[in-house]
Amino acid sequence: MSPIIAVHNGALALPSAPRIRRNREYDPFADLYNRFWGNEYHSCATPILERLLLSRLKPGQTVLDVCCGTGTFAADLVSRGFEVTGIDASAQMLRHARRNAKGAKFVTADVRDFNLNHRFHAAFSVFESLNHVPDAEGLQQAFRSVRQHLRPRGAFLFDLVGPATYRRNWNTTHAIVEDDLVCGMRMNFEESTGMATCDVTIMETPPMWQRRDFTVRQTCHDRTTVQNALSEAGFGNPTLYSARDLGMPASLGSDRTFYLVTA
Ligand SMILES: C[S@@+](CC[C@H](N)C(=O)[O-])C[C@H]1O[C@@H](n2cnc3c(N)ncnc32)[C@H](O)[C@@H]1O
Repeated sequence: MSPIIAVHNGALALPSAPRIRRNREYDPFADLYNRFWGNEYHSCATPILERLLLSRLKPGQTVLDVCCGTGTFAADLVSRGFEVTGIDASAQMLRHARRNAKGAKFVTADVRDFNLNHRFHAAFSVFESLNHVPDAEGLQQAFRSVRQHLRPRGAFLFDLVGPATYRRNWNTTHAIVEDDLVCGMRMNFEESTGMATCDVTIMETPPMWQRRDFTVRQTCHDRTTVQNALSEAGFGNPTLYSARDLGMPASLGSDRTFYLVTA
């Protein structure tokens, strides 16, 4: 049986909950991501963000960009007059975000465990960022943290991809070949566990051609898990939108769902 109280330096103390290990998987990926990823998604998702979220807001209001990455969306929102704060678990992604989105604030934090001491008018988390949260408990923690940062009736929009996307996109190999860099990505989706892994190998800095290897993981969360986690975190019933119905092209939009909830 685990102890209810622990003795620490002679004093009685309640055992603290184990701290969440910040997900730093994007640190070695950040330069590559900033150079090659996100632009196509950004241009397809911006009309959706406008329609479902920004249309509810007035310039000058505060918006939280959850798992903001290199700050592509934050930069856009700043240029539209919103006050933007981005959080992301990767300090290296945020290094780019600070350059890309001058005027936004950025905080290195894990979505499952953060406290900015501020309540925002709205929040969003896009490009399947929450598929990086590995399990149902983590999703619940993430939703609870986001909800604690929203004003009453503040809206939260996020997207997740489902099993058809993993089956189609994550059982392949990709390569990027440039004069100064060669990058290979071996992707694998494990249907039984819902775990998707992308093993990345980069050869860079010619003429030495140094090699780096790292892995980025995602998890396929089924809708029931997502809806239960939202309700456990205190959000009301989500409205679900298919990205295809919202006009996103099939290459990015098939089996991608946008969830809109209010605090
Ligand atoms: C696919 S990128 C999307 C970035 C950005 N939302 C965009 O649209 O360009 C996923 C981002 O989620 C971040 N991330 C993954 N797990 C996280 C966690 N547990 N807490 C906070 N950020 C996380 C990664 O560091 C990465 O920047």
